Amino acid sequence: MSRLMGNFAYFFILAGVHCVQQIQWLPCQFTDEQVTKNEEGHFDTQLIHRQAMLQFGQKGDAPLNPHTITFLITGSKLDLRRYVEQVEAEQLECELRRYSTEGIHVHWPGQEAKEYNRWFTCTLKHNQGLFTVTGFLRHPSDHAPPGQQDFRRWPAISDTEKLTTAVAMVIKTQRPSVKARLGSQQKLHCQFSVDHRGANVTVEWHRQHHGERTKLFSHTSRTKLVQGSGVELKALAGGDASYTLPFTKVKSDGAYICSVLVNPLFGSVDINLHIEEPPRVSLNVGPTLVLQEGSEQKVICEAENYYPLDVDIVWYEQDPNTSGQRVGLPLPKVLPNILLSSHKHNQDMTYSVSAFFYLQASTRHSEREYICSVSHQSLRMPIKKRFILKVEEPFSWMFFLIVSFIILVLLAVLVVMLCYLNSGE
Ligand SMILES: *[C@@H]1O[C@H](CO)[C@@H](O)[C@H](O)[C@H]1NC(C)=O
Ligand SMILES: *[C@@H]1O[C@H](CO)[C@@H](O)[C@H](O)[C@H]1NC(C)=O
Repeated sequence: MSRLMGNFAYFFILAGVHCVQQIQWLPCQFTDEQVTKNEEGHFDTQLIHRQAMLQFGQKGDAPLNPHTITFLITGSKLDLRRYVEQVEAEQLECELRRYSTEGIHVHWPGQEAKEYNRWFTCTLKHNQGLFTVTGFLRHPSDHAPPGQQDFRRWPAISDTEKLTTAVAMVIKTQRPSVKARLGSQQKLHCQFSVDHRGANVTVEWHRQHHGERTKLFSHTSRTKLVQGSGVELKALAGGDASYTLPFTKVKSDGAYICSVLVNPLFGSVDINLHIEEPPRVSLNVGPTLVLQEGSEQKVICEAENYYPLDVDIVWYEQDPNTSGQRVGLPLPKVLPNILLSSHKHNQDMTYSVSAFFYLQASTRHSEREYICSVSHQSLRMPIKKRFILKVEEPFSWMFFLIVSFIILVLLAVLVVMLCYLNSGE
């Protein structure tokens, strides 16, 4: 028993060691590019996936794994690990890429006069979509970059190369995917940080929907020029570029792009806003439906004002407890032959639809329960509405007439007999 507890403790300690804050390295995929000129003179970019390692440490540290490409991230004011706190290393997806400045060379604070900067991006994503962080890695080099179209002639990186880099800029969102109900207020999270003070930072927000891109907000720190609204300027000065949507509509659905430009670096994060509005479900009959034997009733289950399109409506029937029943109720059966109305497009761009059938009343089905079940992507569990059918025997006039006639005849006989008895006295 104590051995078992010991094993457990050991596991917990191991897990703790793997916590991101303390980790010294992370496996990472380096998506390299090979650009070739094809026969027509166009450039083709081929992506090559290579193994690499992020190693956190100091300038001059030996690579922990000398058999792979190592991106050594040395201390700067920005520590990438601070942006991925509270998660295990196993939950992170890491990707490194080359970053083209398209020939723009800007002296970056901390850069030596005879050095040139080569840039890489490192993107860390949570495997369940909790956040996305992109860091820009500056790799000083003695070699002059190959001019404006640097992406056409990337300097080769060997399979065991060590590149010493420092994080120059970070951009992060805590919620890359947001689900929102109609009429709610949503704050789309975006934060950034630059490794030096006083940088000329331009922050912009765009919305992209069906290929159409609209600018929502723009601010440049040097000029203090503001376009649009939605971002708190005080928070922005501290690196919080979150955008507030005061009232979500169906039209708010789409991708929101937060971008940060510090020449020559352009970083952006996408936030996908999904509008999801659950249907309102109702029946056209009450909880108990009383019908005469042989009559017919149209029963409608209506799902209204939902978004996006596509609900699943199923009608079930369930027989009441019968005497010989073992335990519980019999399983509900799916009703066949259900008809669907066409989708109605409401003014607020939500949808409505109804599923109906014609119920033929028969005493055999009295006490039967009918259940309408509506499923939609916004619902964890289907919404269910139900009613119980009660069927009454028809009221027969013939039977009533015959009984009345017999009673009348008997009364007449009685009266005649009473008269006869009286006269006989
Ligand atoms: C700041 O950056 C913006 C966007 O790149 C640029 O248009 C502007 O001229 C810059 N301002 C200064 C003072 O450098
Ligand atoms: C059916 O059976 C359950 C439990 O066995 C009971 O609670 C319920 O009242 C019964 N319903 C009817 C309509 O008899």
